[in-house]
Amino acid sequence: MIRLFLFLICAGLRAHALLRFGCSQLVTERLDPLGTPGQVSPHVHQIIGGNAFNVTMDPALDIPSVATCTTCKFKEDKSNYWTAVMYFKHPNGTFTRVPQIPNHFVGSTDGGMTVYYVQPGGNRVSAFPKGFRMITGNPKIRLSSPSEPSDVASWALSFRCWESPDPFGPSNTYPPGAGQYDTRHLPNKKCAGGIRSNVFFPSCWDGKNTDMPDHSSHTAYPLGSVNPNVGILGFVGEGCPSSHPVRVPHVLYETYWDTSKFNDLLTDAEWETEQPLVLSMGDPTGYGQHGDYLFGWEGDSLQRAMDNCMDGFGWPEACTELTVQTDEEMNSCKLATKVGENVGESEYIEALPGCNPLQNGPEPATTVEGCLAVSTTIASVATPV
Ligand SMILES: *[C@@H]1O[C@H](CO)[C@@H](O)[C@H](O)[C@H]1NC(C)=O
Ligand SMILES: *[C@@H]1O[C@H](CO)[C@@H](O)[C@H](O)[C@H]1NC(C)=O
Repeated sequence: MIRLFLFLICAGLRAHALLRFGCSQLVTERLDPLGTPGQVSPHVHQIIGGNAFNVTMDPALDIPSVATCTTCKFKEDKSNYWTAVMYFKHPNGTFTRVPQIPNHFVGSTDGGMTVYYVQPGGNRVSAFPKGFRMITGNPKIRLSSPSEPSDVASWALSFRCWESPDPFGPSNTYPPGAGQYDTRHLPNKKCAGGIRSNVFFPSCWDGKNTDMPDHSSHTAYPLGSVNPNVGILGFVGEGCPSSHPVRVPHVLYETYWDTSKFNDLLTDAEWETEQPLVLSMGDPTGYGQHGDYLFGWEGDSLQRAMDNCMDGFGWPEACTELTVQTDEEMNSCKLATKVGENVGESEYIEALPGCNPLQNGPEPATTVEGCLAVSTTIASVATPV
């Protein structure tokens, strides 16, 4: 832990707020209330956070009063966070879902993700307003982003290939999204310690809109470049563009995929040429990685945490502004699936749920016409019309 601790705190002498906490899986299914509200979404997502999550999430909904539990460490956090899931393509063409395992130092979460809220030293951040939501990344992209290699934005979405499961090993000497172990594409080699995907959200806001039709143009990445020598703070850039002047917390999702259990099914050479991992939208490149964020903290709890919780490692227990719950409480908060289909959790499936044939690019992925996949939720089927 010393190494990890050092890279988190060596950034400078000024204190900065940091929260780093685990969240267990809430549900895994084809829903996306931002991208496709009211409908079954085109591909599978893994969702964490409060149990107010639904097919549609009206911005006027008072999420903290609707949710009765959360899968996240802090009871005050009823937000929802979601990403695509990862599959392994077997040599005979069938798929199984790659299990998600607890990240380093988050306890015994049931899969899920690790969430960070970061405040760079000296810059006060404003917590997100009620109704705020955003998306980063684009599931149709199959090509490396064209921005400058050192841009904050160009490294926002990446994958870390862990040489070993050891959190003190060399794979952990760089902040997420920087250094020699991270790539923007899915690693085309075996990763003995699994793969961790990193999704950094923009941390600059226009100060006016809680959402936009594209769910992203009210936000922007900070200016400047990534500095891999100053830990996670190397990712927060050098200030906001004048179009998006308000600094909001830098949100990062880490998802730890246990790909190691598949390593013996292919030779090293086969793994390099065939790269058998695929994201749920039929993306074998990884460039289509994306994340969705729906703010749902109670009252001013996030602002209080960002003003006062300065622990260098972001330990939940060190943030006395907030209430921590046990891993058992987090793991017991679940939502029943609303889309009646097998997502490949424990069985081999013939095709990815939805209509998601593998599309390698580099052209953007196209939508399959006439898709016959399940398109109604169990709840809506049960409702008389
Ligand atoms: C989800 O929405 C449906 C339909 O509006 C509603 O009946 C249900 O109670 C909602 N679930 C939650 C957890 O709010
Ligand atoms: C595909 O391969 C897996 C793993 O070897 C096997 O368990 C499964 O039965 C096979 N499925 C088909 C349809 O061949």
